[in-house]
Amino acid sequence: MIKELLLMLAKQPGQYLAIETIGSRLGLVNTEVVGLVSRMNKAGFTVECSLDRGCAWPDVFSDLAAQPLQMMLDGSFGQHIYLCNEVDSTNEWAKEEVSKKRIDEGTVFAARLQTAGKGRQGRVWQSPEGGLWFSLILRPGKSVESIASFSLVASLAVARVLAEYTENVSVKWPNDVFIGGKKIAGILLEIHPGFDKIGYVIVGIGVNANNWTKYLPEDVSLSSTSLADNMDRMISLNLLLARLIGSVEDNWYRFKHEGFLPFKQQFENMCIHNGQSVTIDTGAEKISGINTGIDERGGLLIKRDSGEVITVNSGDVLL
Ligand code: BTN
Repeated sequence: MIKELLLMLAKQPGQYLAIETIGSRLGLVNTEVVGLVSRMNKAGFTVECSLDRGCAWPDVFSDLAAQPLQMMLDGSFGQHIYLCNEVDSTNEWAKEEVSKKRIDEGTVFAARLQTAGKGRQGRVWQSPEGGLWFSLILRPGKSVESIASFSLVASLAVARVLAEYTENVSVKWPNDVFIGGKKIAGILLEIHPGFDKIGYVIVGIGVNANNWTKYLPEDVSLSSTSLADNMDRMISLNLLLARLIGSVEDNWYRFKHEGFLPFKQQFENMCIHNGQSVTIDTGAEKISGINTGIDERGGLLIKRDSGEVITVNSGDVLL
């Protein structure tokens, strides 16, 4: 309910929405709306509310904070949230904590900025203040097959949320999210083997949110975009994070029970290069051809000039 109320108010930052309108959408009477807002504000929100003027949330872009965040979550992920101002990498932080004590599935590690953010293939991930940088712990146990394909599934979860903010959202194999041809988010999946099964997985997610990409180093800035660039206004990082956690959780449970197959078509539909001529840099070689789809384990299907169709399981698609 809190998430719904904040979503309504976030659509019109600073403008008042009548209590009756809120009440009818949430199925509450006026006094219940006021009571709800007062409980939220005790937990750290800053929603303005009066019976005559209605409710407004002027500082929707307010800082990340664990308590308001938890109030917006309604699933089982995010019960435990580690939050700090600055860390080298939230993936490294998560790994360190897991080595010290039992960390439950769904635990979140988030930082306002990262000093050594990690990207795929050993690359640096620029992580200035304003962006959303976080990692989630997953515990697949024995049952999950081809866990690496969850990075595609996680990118779909991120894309679904970003599509609620702006248009032209697509994904790029294996785990990038794009807006209008520029990268807005990336996912770094780190699989840590246990004794006789996968011990745990860290899903690191970076979203350029309230940071302007013109301030990133030039090589990155030209190919990147952010929500701020696209929307020309700041958004609530707490709300964005809560929605992302919920979306990843939904996809994780489906993936855990049904594997990658239910996501194959979704990925193909949202993929920026599906059906197009592409070159993939695997590190060892460059492979060119037409991307004819995704296989049932998340591999990229490429039709070579010879007509042969091959599956590529790792690499970068050069656009
Ligand atoms: C990529 O596209 O190369 C993956 C980028 C992943 C960045 C996120 S930000 C949060 C988490 N911590 C890291 O150091 N990396 C991931």
